[in-house]
Amino acid sequence: MSSSLTRRKFLRRAAATGLAAGLGSSLASAADSSSAASTAKPAAPANPTAWPVFDDTDEAALRDVLRSGKWGRGSGTKVAAFEKAYAELAGAKHCIATASGTTALLTTLGSLDLGPGDEVILPPYTFVATFHAVTASYALPVFVDTDAASFQIDARKVAAAITDRTRVILPVHLGGSVADMDTINAAASAKKLPVVEDACQSWMAQWRGKSVGLHGVAGCFSFQASKNLTAGEGGAILTNDSDLAARCLSFQDQARSARAPLTGRGSNYRLTEFQGGLLLAQLKRFTAQQNHRNDNALYLSKLLREIDGIEPARLHDGCTRSAWHLYMFRYRAEKFAGLPREKFLAALAKEKVSGSTGYTPLNTTPHVLSLAQSRHYKKIYGERAMADWAERNRCPVNDTLCKEAVWFTQTVLLNPRSEMDRIAEAIRKVQRNAAALAKG
Ligand SMILES: Cc1ncc(COP(=O)(O)O)c(C=O)c1O
Repeated sequence: MSSSLTRRKFLRRAAATGLAAGLGSSLASAADSSSAASTAKPAAPANPTAWPVFDDTDEAALRDVLRSGKWGRGSGTKVAAFEKAYAELAGAKHCIATASGTTALLTTLGSLDLGPGDEVILPPYTFVATFHAVTASYALPVFVDTDAASFQIDARKVAAAITDRTRVILPVHLGGSVADMDTINAAASAKKLPVVEDACQSWMAQWRGKSVGLHGVAGCFSFQASKNLTAGEGGAILTNDSDLAARCLSFQDQARSARAPLTGRGSNYRLTEFQGGLLLAQLKRFTAQQNHRNDNALYLSKLLREIDGIEPARLHDGCTRSAWHLYMFRYRAEKFAGLPREKFLAALAKEKVSGSTGYTPLNTTPHVLSLAQSRHYKKIYGERAMADWAERNRCPVNDTLCKEAVWFTQTVLLNPRSEMDRIAEAIRKVQRNAAALAKG
């Protein structure tokens, strides 16, 4: 890249030509480092790349809304245009935008009239928002253990967790991947239960060629700041159920629609026009970014599977496309001379590869366990049931997985392909030196 081509010009040109749509920051950092190399400075580490990616298109989108004076979805057109575009991209009949992924879940579960006395099945390997979406309705969360190979809910254990009180099954498509929807849907349909997909990390991931969100009654998505598609905050619901769509649309707007049945429930969970406009701009580079992440993730998996003791999260056979919000693998310390995971990550950090340990077990956090002491829950479910609740929610596989997991963020996958080679080499180097590192 010519050194006269500034970062700003490069980003503008990349966006305009679609050359690197979505790769703005990663290619720009590569560009920056190559021009730095020509002046003999060390190359800047490209891992992770900057996030979010934006250019003049995004600025213009925000300015347009600002100058229109139509800042709320009631008077504007941007949120509606985004809903149309997102639904089209997924092949869904309906998209309802919301203020966040959490409020997408609250809207969907509220529209299904989830309430006190109901149980909801969910995985423990998830962000706490999935849990809060259940407890907001005073429903009882019932955790089903994780399948360690895929990092997803162990769908084979869902049927056994269903009781007469189960009202909703709430699988999470964790890290961009997809839970085993065939097995979950078989368990759900045997009991005529609705499945709501928490797809907050899995935009446009696919199960057997069809977008997530369309395999149950609805799917919920997040556009929070770290997400692959973002407006800082934001969310959406996808559904092919026109009746549910009408109820959700009404629910997130204080139940004001004449098209939805009256239930006495609703709230203000509306997305703003600024976010709608920004999401439309971000959507222009989203598919290219997803393709880039996908190519790099599949390549990285090929490299890492060759390293004894590194086990990349398996995609279920039905997962025909992952969104790669996280790159997750199990780290087997015994194959690294017993080097503890934290020291493994510290050694990688010295090689300028940044990873994290991911989730701790949600079902045993003090916050979650405190639900057993809630006066409301004791009144609704009984003292005995709440005393037994923690025991009922034991998830031993998840406990082990939480000790072994390593994550890279989605931004790592936006780097050039050479960065994947460098990551694999860094891990091999740590393994070669593991015995010495373990002593240190
Ligand atoms: C699995 C999962 N569910 C729900 C949410 C909630 O989304 P938001 O932060 O947009 O409310 C998140 C966000 O991180 C998530 O990862």
